[in-house]
Parts: sequence; C-alpha cells; structure tokens
Amino acid sequence: MEDQKLTTATSESSGVSAASPRPRRLRLSASIRRLVRETALRPDDLIYPLFIRHGQDLKLPIESMPGQFQLSLDRLSAEAEAIADLGIPAVLLFGIPAVKDACGSDNFNPAGIIPRAIAIIKEAAPDLIVISDMCFCEYTDHGHCGLINSPGNAHFDPNLPLGYLLNDPTLELLARASVVHARAGADIIAPSGMLDGMVAAIRRALDGDAMSHVAIMSYAAKAASVFYGPFRHAAHSAPGFGDRRQYQLDPANRREALREIALDADEGADILLVKPALPCLDILNEARRRFDLPLAAYQVSGEYAMIHGAARQGWLDLERSALESLVSIKRAGADMIISYFAKDAVAWLASA
Ligand code: PBG
Repeated sequence: MEDQKLTTATSESSGVSAASPRPRRLRLSASIRRLVRETALRPDDLIYPLFIRHGQDLKLPIESMPGQFQLSLDRLSAEAEAIADLGIPAVLLFGIPAVKDACGSDNFNPAGIIPRAIAIIKEAAPDLIVISDMCFCEYTDHGHCGLINSPGNAHFDPNLPLGYLLNDPTLELLARASVVHARAGADIIAPSGMLDGMVAAIRRALDGDAMSHVAIMSYAAKAASVFYGPFRHAAHSAPGFGDRRQYQLDPANRREALREIALDADEGADILLVKPALPCLDILNEARRRFDLPLAAYQVSGEYAMIHGAARQGWLDLERSALESLVSIKRAGADMIISYFAKDAVAWLASA
C-alpha cells in the first residue's frame, strides 16, 4: 500500500503540472530525434587534405596523424578517384618539395610539386574541386611563411627587425605562385600565411592573368596555434627559428580575429576560413552572424591527433568523438569543414 502511494506521488503524469515544459518528449526515440535534428553533417560539407611528395609508389604514414599519409605523385590519380567516389567534393593540397630555398621557389615553379599534383588530380577526377593551400612555409629553407628580412636578401630592409617576415615582397611571390597554381588547374587558391593584403594581391594577379574564374578561400582568422604541431611534422614546415606569432593571430583575441575576417571579405575573398576549429567556435559563430559569405573551418592536425590519441588509449570512442566534433563545428556556423576525418566520416555516416 505504502509503496503504491509512493509510485503514484512520483509518477511522471502527476508530479509536474501540465503546463511545465517537457522538452524530453522530442528525445524519446531515434526516429523523433531524427525528425527534430537541426544540424546534419553530409559528405558535401567536407574537404580532405592531402600531403604530396616526390618519389615512387610511396604512401608514407604520418606518425602523429594516424591514418594519414604522404603520397607520391604517382599514387595521386587513384587517391583522387577514391575521394571523388566517396562523394567528397574537394581536396586541399600541401606539397613537400624536393628542394627548399630562401624564397620557396618550388611554390611558383610551373614544374613544382603542387602544379604537377593539381594537373594529375584534375585529369583523374575532373569534378573534384582542387584547393591549393597558398603559403611558403613548406617551401622555404627557414620554414617561415614568406621572405625573411636578413642581410644578403635582395629585399633586405635595415629599418626592419632581423628575422621579420617581409610582407609586401612576399605578397608578390604569393601572387605569382597563385597564378601558376591556377594555370595548372586549381579551382580555389587558399592563402594561409596571414599576411596583410594577401587576398587583394592574389585577386588582382588572378584577374590580370585571365583567371577571374578562380576563387579565393582565405584563411582569414588563423590563430598562432599549438595544434598545428603534427601538421608541421607531416609537411616538414616547422619554422627553423622563432615562431609564427608575428603574423598569425593571438589565440586570445576575438575582436581582432573578426577585424581580420572583415578585411579579407572586403579584399574579395569568396570563402572565409577560421582555424583551428574547436578552439575558435566563438569566432566562427560570430563570423556566421556578421558575414554572408560561405564559411569554412579547419579541424587541424592537433585536433585530429588528440581524438586519435585518446581513442588509442581506450579513453574516447573514435567515431563518435570525431562525428560529434564535426557536427559541433557545423552547428557553430561552418558551411564546410576541412578535416583529416573526411574519408572516415563519409563511411561512418553511410553506416549510421
Ligand atoms: C601553412 C599551413 C599550416 C596549416 C595549414 N596551412 C601550418 C602553419 O601555419 O604552421 C596547419 C594545418 C593543420 O595543422 O592541420 N601555413
């Protein structure tokens, strides 16, 4: 008797008045959750990064990025076809040149690693969008994202600090390399060096070379983040001295990030990118409110490595952690996400 009273008193229908909100009604079953789901991750949202190198028949595992590889040019056609077959619309290319020098000349050499890679991919999978990451850090012998102020350099300026990244001379090289990549067939140029005026300089150069159809995805707000560590290992692009804080954003600054994004929108960027992704969701979300242009987010190497590292220990479920982070990035406002999980995510989504 006593028991029954207790049950009645605490039963769902009597404990809370009819007017109380019961949001849990819409979470009762998998089907109703599907019905009210606000954000859906699709293969169409994803961009897959590729690391490309010289050599023959190479697929070298990147230790700090499980499941990612450096691929030699001769393995690219098959990889491009496989990515296109999965329904992923775009790839982002990073090159590891045979030789590095002070000005990163492989980047603007029409026979350099990336122009060759672009041509191979466009031939193998013509509908796959090729985005060329436009930066010099993989190509310079000092590992910085452009020309460095030092005596002996043709652009040496004694008024500027030694080791300073020379902005405007680097813009000329970025413009030149962008035209070379566009001529090789790149659909989108993605300047990632955080130099002042890079979008305007590249737009002008492309338009001046009958490449007005080529789009620019600007790394508009890119923080000087520790989470790029595994990438620098993968792309052999760690700076030989100092760090990138004189050109990349202080991760502590949100308003400055938004000013940077506004500048790139004004300069003619077609797509605005925020990076890294999870650490910058607030910036991404505010950019979504303020700008109408498509927004991209880059889930960077360290974000990928963290999830893999924890999954390896058995501390996190790999698939669910990856998918939850991707959907969170989309929910915050990204129209597209660059992710090393792209291929896995497509497979996971298909079997969900
Ligand atoms: C080149 C570039 C970097 C990344 C993308 N483009 C490295 C850097 O700025 O040091 C990082 C991507 C990643 O960590 O996955 N400037």
